[in-house]
Amino acid sequence: MGVEIEVNDLTKSFGKQLIWGDVSLTIPAGEICVMLGPSGTGKSVFLKTLIGLLKPDRGSIIIEGTDIASCSERELYEIRKLFGVLFQDGAMFGSMNLYDNIAFPLREHTKKSESEIRAIVMEKLDLTGLIGTEQKLPGEISGGMRKRAGLARALVLDPEIVLFDEPDSGLDPVRTSFLNQLIVDLNAQIDATFLIVTHDINTARTVPDNIGLLYHKHLAMFGPREMLLSSEEPVVRQFLNAQKIGPIGMSEEKDADELAAESDQELPPLPPIPMQLEPSNGIARRSQREPGAWCREQGITPPPGSFEDNVSMAPGA
Ligand SMILES: Nc1ncnc2c1ncn2[C@@H]1O[C@H](COP(=O)(O)OP(=O)(O)OP(=O)(O)O)[C@@H](O)[C@H]1O
Ligand SMILES: [Mg+2]
Repeated sequence: MGVEIEVNDLTKSFGKQLIWGDVSLTIPAGEICVMLGPSGTGKSVFLKTLIGLLKPDRGSIIIEGTDIASCSERELYEIRKLFGVLFQDGAMFGSMNLYDNIAFPLREHTKKSESEIRAIVMEKLDLTGLIGTEQKLPGEISGGMRKRAGLARALVLDPEIVLFDEPDSGLDPVRTSFLNQLIVDLNAQIDATFLIVTHDINTARTVPDNIGLLYHKHLAMFGPREMLLSSEEPVVRQFLNAQKIGPIGMSEEKDADELAAESDQELPPLPPIPMQLEPSNGIARRSQREPGAWCREQGITPPPGSFEDNVSMAPGA
């Protein structure tokens, strides 16, 4: 069913360096969230904190009634079984073939027999379109296949929460589209809670139910996709539309002179909000809502042309 993650006033520093502070958000059960932010704003640190690999300075992370930030090692070990994680580089063992890589968590964390393991590994290979490659070493397959193998491995323990750290980095646009479709299809099928860190604006605009943006050591905004895509808040607007005009500069923040020089430049209108990517396998996602539902409820007029089929980015459509 997926589980909710409730984050309250979370703050993390390394020594004197504050990474982000007072982050509060609720990641709803079974939904897909995307976390955005300029490079170095602590997105990977955020994911690592959620699984208890890094301890926050203060704040809480509540999952099924347990606070990850303050629980015992033993409780943490149990809670971690709820998670599947797709690391940035796939994090495969180079000397093991794909089959053994994907079987690894099952051999490590369960007492299943080899025949049970085989059934699960083959099911996940099938799900991620990797049947026939199980004897290959990670070094013998393409980057896109390695990502999918990492995803297969993240899924073997039937996670309630799946964290993706830049699943699309290093992939060409076509493979990114296929991977996005796979993520949406998987969410419909396994109903787990997904949190995706990405730099891909098209992914952020079309895949999630909710979007968050980390900027300048805090969570600038978190909410429904339609909220951020219709937002005029300068940082959100700049980031989600990949614009040069706005407070974010090459080295994170622009100075007063740079901002003053821009002040008489007119911002282009907000682009239309695209349709959300739908599952291709005919299964409806539990959290899927009518296009424009959030805007209607809030009495917000979305940018002209929003939710028309021609702005849908559905691959294969
Ligand atoms: N274990 C650590 N010890 C000290 N500093 C760290 C550690 N891990 C990360 N940092 C620092 O925390 C900051 C945020 O790093 P992080 O990897 O989370 O950024 P990011 O948002 O994921 O960036 P990118 O988009 O480039 O992947 C960086 O300044 C990094 O140097
Ligand atoms: Mg990162």
